[in-house]
Amino acid sequence: MPPKLLSPLFPCLIFFTLLLLTLYSSLLSRPPPTVPPPCNLFKGHWVLDRARTPLYDHTCPFHRNAWNCLKNQRENMGLINSWKWIPESCALPRIDPARFLGSMRNRNIGFVGDSLNENFLVSFLCVLRVADRGARRWKRKGAWRGAYFPKYNVTVAYHRAVLLAKYQWQPKQSTVGNQDGLRGIYRVDVDIPADDWVNITNFYHVLVFNSGHWWVSYKFPKETPLVFYRQGQPIIPPLDILDGFKVVLENMVSYIQKEVPRTTLKLWRLQSPRHFYGGDWNHNGSCLFTDPLQESQLDLWFDPRNNGVNKDARQMNHLIEKALQGTEIQLLDLSHLSEFRADAHPAIWLGKKDAVAIWGQDCMHWCLPGVPDTWVDILSELIRHSMETG
Ligand SMILES: *[C@@H]1O[C@H](CO)[C@@H](O)[C@H](O)[C@H]1NC(C)=O
Ligand SMILES: *[C@@H]1O[C@H](CO)[C@@H](O)[C@H](O)[C@H]1NC(C)=O
Ligand SMILES: *[C@@H]1O[C@H](CO)[C@@H](O)[C@H](O)[C@H]1NC(C)=O
Repeated sequence: MPPKLLSPLFPCLIFFTLLLLTLYSSLLSRPPPTVPPPCNLFKGHWVLDRARTPLYDHTCPFHRNAWNCLKNQRENMGLINSWKWIPESCALPRIDPARFLGSMRNRNIGFVGDSLNENFLVSFLCVLRVADRGARRWKRKGAWRGAYFPKYNVTVAYHRAVLLAKYQWQPKQSTVGNQDGLRGIYRVDVDIPADDWVNITNFYHVLVFNSGHWWVSYKFPKETPLVFYRQGQPIIPPLDILDGFKVVLENMVSYIQKEVPRTTLKLWRLQSPRHFYGGDWNHNGSCLFTDPLQESQLDLWFDPRNNGVNKDARQMNHLIEKALQGTEIQLLDLSHLSEFRADAHPAIWLGKKDAVAIWGQDCMHWCLPGVPDTWVDILSELIRHSMETG
């Protein structure tokens, strides 16, 4: 406690606070209300709650090995799962899987995007399975991974489309003029959604989109760059990778607005940040932290003006928020709460010998059970709220 709290005013303050609290709570109906969204679930802080335990363990059949941190014996899994997210101005209840699935009966939920959405999906499947042990794998309609919950006739699946737009590898045609080292290009059609999700949007009642961590030059170096096309023709002058992201966002957002039924709840999840410390992923960057970051550290880590190795999440978010302005696609802003959690990545516990030597630590995806379970709590609240308000 800061010493200034010991001033003579302190007892008075406590007394009046208690008085106010008593008056206030007697005014409120019981049980204590959860202020529904649009109450902001995205701003808040983490508190330690030692009694908290995850809803599932390493035996969930939907795990992906590299994120199954219990099985991979990651240190501190107990601690990682003891932190509870407390939004500033409302309660965030934990999902009740049976009640949630009951309210979703005969409906389907789709995730579209990159592996961070897959990470989200795996958490969701493992949580929901608690209420339906008969859940089984579901991989139809171009889904990369998913499950069907027979008790409720609910399907939840992930469609892998890392750039959202269609893209394909085109090897270099001729070997003339090879000085630039170009080996070929990845052609991106900014106005065509990837095959993996273009025709499935009618199947889902809730869709959660994301894209972001592939839009970086280490994924597409100058020997194998992204080249952007519109209406079948290369865009001239060529766009750099972030401008390409902007144009793809605009086009995908307008496709979603036009083609996805109005009644479908559409959400766009913002980036969850990476936490590489001491270097980027390919320079021995590490995330062997035992505690979440302090709020005062966040800007230092993530504000692009500080030019740190993890600045890309906020950069991407800025572009996404702009592209979504004025649309009916809701922001699912998981960034801020995830920024704290440098402690919750798989790091060196990847379940495979040599994985760290080859790929470095994983300070981008998230341990399961772990932080994505809180994303699930938030998503289920937003879905509940949307269904209650029509
Ligand atoms: C299951 O849900 C789908 C909609 O997702 C619906 O078309 C189908 O009729 C439902 N099946 C049963 C048996 O209710
Ligand atoms: C999507 O549907 C359209 C219209 O039915 C069809 O022409 C196209 O081939 C389909 N695309 C994929 C990838 O299935
Ligand atoms: C990473 O660390 C290893 C072992 O300390 C060292 O040999 C290697 O050069 C480092 N790599 C980079 C890119 O810094």
